[in-house]
Amino acid sequence: MKHLLKLLDWSGDDIIKVLNIADQLKYEQRNGISKKYLEGKSLGMIFEKASTRTRVSFEVGMFQLGGTALFLSSDKTQIGRGEPVQDTARVLSRYLDGIMIRTFEQAEVEALAENGSIPIINGLTDFCHPCQVLADLMTIREYKGKLNGLKMCFIGDGNNMMNSLIVGALKTGMSISVACPEGYEPDDAVLDFAKGFGDKFEMLRNPAEAVKNADVVITDVWASMGQEEEAKQRAAAFKGYQINSDIMNLAANDAIVLHCLPAHREEEITTEVFEAHADEIFEEAENRLHAQKAVMVYLMNSESDIVRDH
Ligand code: CP
Ligand code: NVA
Repeated sequence: MKHLLKLLDWSGDDIIKVLNIADQLKYEQRNGISKKYLEGKSLGMIFEKASTRTRVSFEVGMFQLGGTALFLSSDKTQIGRGEPVQDTARVLSRYLDGIMIRTFEQAEVEALAENGSIPIINGLTDFCHPCQVLADLMTIREYKGKLNGLKMCFIGDGNNMMNSLIVGALKTGMSISVACPEGYEPDDAVLDFAKGFGDKFEMLRNPAEAVKNADVVITDVWASMGQEEEAKQRAAAFKGYQINSDIMNLAANDAIVLHCLPAHREEEITTEVFEAHADEIFEEAENRLHAQKAVMVYLMNSESDIVRDH
């Protein structure tokens, strides 16, 4: 049974295959070609955190593929009242064909996969955000025509986004430089993985150094969901880690900027840079839909033509 629990579990070939399927699904969608690759299938969407993009893109994506999606908010199900994940997994596996879950602990997502018998898709945990990074890689390839050999730079918190971008970039042949303050580094498991890639990965303190000649410049909020109470302290720690025009002047001339959204203008990114790169950022947001449709087809209908042909 194949899942998308984290990009560390996927090969570079898995990632490229899903990006190819996503490109085709985007082409079909743009050209009014409607193929019901998931006709009659159901996806449960468990949310223990807020969401705009993930919720809407999975729900609409499932509809467009001929299936149905159920929104399962933790506070309106027994999950919020402490029903063990082992039991939830075994019950939902009998009703559904796949589960997307957004939660805090990565261990909860892994436990769903271990105890259930249907594909599990990670829609964000504190550890990683693989669906977002697939959409990011899709967007980079659209703008740059390739991934291999490009330089990505991430400035800011060593959070779920930084973790997944490091893995996604290295697995697809990109190099990546990250700049983060002391105490806000990416997860040890990710640093261990990156060690095997030599100078294709560097972790620096100085954003100006990390962004040198970068083809893609990325940031994310300084306080992620669940860290709201530490927001002030974190804002102080991240002073100097903003993407602004001085930073962009050091990147490649044709560098693109990505942000998973929601963005906090004048914190991690200036309004000026955000608006100058709004085309890329909103294409990235749209690509959540196409990339996730590709993930669902890949995991939930691996015998379909579109999966076999790519
Ligand atoms: N980028 C992202 O995952 O957005 P949502 O939190 O709105 O789903
Ligand atoms: N790092 C952010 C990403 C939101 C899509 C968070 O976890 O809140």
